[in-house]
Amino acid sequence: MPFPIHRPRRLRKSAAIQRMVRETVLTPDDLILPLFVCEGKNVRTPIGSMPGIDRLSIDLLGQEVKEAHSLGIPAVILFGIPDHKDAQGTEAYNPDGVVQRAIREIKSKVPEMVVVTDVCIDEYTDHGHCGLVEGDEVVNDPTLELLARMSLTHADCGADIVAPSDMMDGRVQAIRKALDENSHQSTLIMSYAAKYASAFYGPFREAADSAPQFGDRRSYQMDPGNSDEALREVEQDIEEGADILMVKPALPYLDIIRRVRDTFPVPLAAYNVSGEYSMLMAAAEKGWVDGDRVMLEVLLSIKRAGAQMILTYSAMPAARLLNG
Ligand code: PBG
Repeated sequence: MPFPIHRPRRLRKSAAIQRMVRETVLTPDDLILPLFVCEGKNVRTPIGSMPGIDRLSIDLLGQEVKEAHSLGIPAVILFGIPDHKDAQGTEAYNPDGVVQRAIREIKSKVPEMVVVTDVCIDEYTDHGHCGLVEGDEVVNDPTLELLARMSLTHADCGADIVAPSDMMDGRVQAIRKALDENSHQSTLIMSYAAKYASAFYGPFREAADSAPQFGDRRSYQMDPGNSDEALREVEQDIEEGADILMVKPALPYLDIIRRVRDTFPVPLAAYNVSGEYSMLMAAAEKGWVDGDRVMLEVLLSIKRAGAQMILTYSAMPAARLLNG
């Protein structure tokens, strides 16, 4: 008997052999770039809590999206920052709202870019909740109609994929019905199916100015202690007609990504959220970690866990690194 019996190090003997046996490879195809769109002309406002990320006015989107396209990033997801907020979030479904105009702008400048839109009213409501509020309650069914209307305005402007992130029950079905009844059968739905009530959204809420003005989101987003429940949420959204499922956040929920991947043969996305990004940037700024290497390792881990699509604020720098 030789000793040791197995020598796994043989497979690590050279960079070429490592490349031959590598199981997971990250490419720009895996990435979806989030963009924060605001009103105004020639506005590029850095977001303090997210180094490297800016709020952009519509006229600057063409340039940004062209660059993403040239790096090989196939899709962007849009978040709107409206000038006007009210209790019903009316700007969310204004046919000429900030996101609606942004979709048209991107589709006219870079038609090949897949445009995903976040469907949720929290950026548009003065109370900052993802649904309509009655008393101190976020009410489910009356919110569905608004989400369906919002999705329709996005599809009318040319959005390829609508992505509901509100966590109201039954929204995928309500949106699918509205789209189908208005000749948008080919618009995809990417559902934030397993979205947790996470503290990792902190920097986003500063970026989108969408922190809830009272209470929190625990009556609609999922409890971080739950895993079986994520499978039920995903299963329901598949039954309701979702084309792509999402787990969010990504890094603290890699186990959920893996369970969903092992259970359902569906396209799966994961959202590497603002807090995950900002933690990494902060540590890199302090020189405590090698920011570029950690960035790619994080994204690779999300893909290895089972996500085919990664929504990430690191999309541009990661694609540049991957393109070498
Ligand atoms: C809701 C929405 C949120 C994020 C994406 N869509 C905020 C929330 O649920 O509070 C967070 C994304 C991030 O943290 O990067 N419209």
